[in-house]
Amino acid sequence: MESRELGYVKLVLDREYELSKVDDRIFGSFIEHLGRAVYDGIYQPGNSLSDGMGFRRDVIDFVKDLQVPIIRYPGGNFVSGFRWEDSVGPRSQRPERLDLAWRSTESNQIGINEFSKWAMKVKSSVMMTVNLGTRGIQDACNLLEYCNQVSGTEYSDLRIAHGDRDPYGIKVWCLGNEMDGPWQIGHKTMEEYGRLAAETAKAMKLIDPSIELVSCGSSNSEMPTFPQWEAVTLEHTYDYVDYISLHSYYDNRSEDTLDYLAQSDDMDKFIKKVIATCDFVKAKKRGEKSIDLSFDEWNVWFHSNEKDEALMRDQPWQRHPPLLEDIYNFEDALVVGLLLITLLKHADRVKIACLAQLVNVIAPIMTEQHGGRAWRQTIYWPFMHASKYGRGVVIMPSVHGTRHETSGHGEVTDVESVSVFNEDKRELTIFAVNRTLTKNIDFYADIRSFGDCHVLEQIILENDDLHACNSSVEEKVVPKRSDDLSSDNGMLHTILHPASWNVLRIGVNGRKM
Ligand code: AHR
Repeated sequence: MESRELGYVKLVLDREYELSKVDDRIFGSFIEHLGRAVYDGIYQPGNSLSDGMGFRRDVIDFVKDLQVPIIRYPGGNFVSGFRWEDSVGPRSQRPERLDLAWRSTESNQIGINEFSKWAMKVKSSVMMTVNLGTRGIQDACNLLEYCNQVSGTEYSDLRIAHGDRDPYGIKVWCLGNEMDGPWQIGHKTMEEYGRLAAETAKAMKLIDPSIELVSCGSSNSEMPTFPQWEAVTLEHTYDYVDYISLHSYYDNRSEDTLDYLAQSDDMDKFIKKVIATCDFVKAKKRGEKSIDLSFDEWNVWFHSNEKDEALMRDQPWQRHPPLLEDIYNFEDALVVGLLLITLLKHADRVKIACLAQLVNVIAPIMTEQHGGRAWRQTIYWPFMHASKYGRGVVIMPSVHGTRHETSGHGEVTDVESVSVFNEDKRELTIFAVNRTLTKNIDFYADIRSFGDCHVLEQIILENDDLHACNSSVEEKVVPKRSDDLSSDNGMLHTILHPASWNVLRIGVNGRKM
């Protein structure tokens, strides 16, 4: 990529200026019974790469490397027609069902019993979504009783009869999925949903007061009912819930890369509007508690749209068809990096976030359709770096830097960055994306308040071809190390190449000054 211009960014980071501790669950993900996410993805009995339960070991290893603390399950749109009883107990008795959301069939060979064990294998916890589309309060309570009650009741004893003596202890529960969307099975008005969600939440917390609940927010910020949906539904649910959900997918349908790389600004605005709405309801209620944000579906999603529409229209009712199999390119990885930076910048209110999704379906991890190896998409890398190095406390910087014009977002910053200090590891990490296509950016950071520091490494993801993709035969987009980062008496300097994702890792020698 040819560099013609220069830009700069100067940060001053003060150790004392902490925004918030990062909730580890901001690095969550999502697995839906959709396409080949479950069957052919995490589960492939008969494959030599699978373990005794039929779970793919190579997929487990990739997921573990991502260090995903929480995984939303089992949908998504799928959940709005899900009958959870179908998915537990003896497998030979589990029915085959029509999944109306994705016009597929569901064999129920993997369900709550198996998924909870897979989640343990990848060292993650389950974030369970209940069906508030075709079902309601009693059903949600039965499922909670099955999962979390120790014993001595119909559903807890049923779980034990199914072989699982210990309760699953599922902490976070979503009250339905995208209930504002006309495509949702059992779609509701905001009044209908608000009442149902509040009563379901009230009953669920009577069963297990230790759970945390997510009220359904808008499916995206372009919904005609946004943000009225949040205001009205939260008025009903405020006393019983802990979070409101946000969903958003980004795309480069207009094939304008510079503008595509500015779309993280849309996520930033969306988050700010939802925070404002939550705080409005809190004020109106004279409340004490703040409703935090669960950004439980986010990613790039558009490459597979046309193929998926045709498949669902022309060849419906297949078992795990290859749906939503976006193959991500290098510029998508930059956008995912920018979205991660944006989420971290809001770590004071975004406590849960789920990269949608994890395996095969709009996913960082893919498996070959008829056996074969698992491989990592371009977007795997920024997610892995953020999850591995982004734990700690977000430090709010003072920032000055150059900017550029875009077609749809006006003038935007050349560089987006966020800094996280990990006190236990004595490490400061700065994530930065140069979202220009032509400028080399002179990057300076004054970190003198951290005392004696040394450079650990600069990791960089770049590629001359913005459309370069990985595949099962070749991983063209992989991170490398750069030697550009230097530290001189607490003044950092490096060059951020055009269109690059950068992880600057600094060791902090001294104690807090
Ligand atoms: O993640 C794919 C789909 O996107 C989910 O099922 C739904 O909740 C959203 O519209």
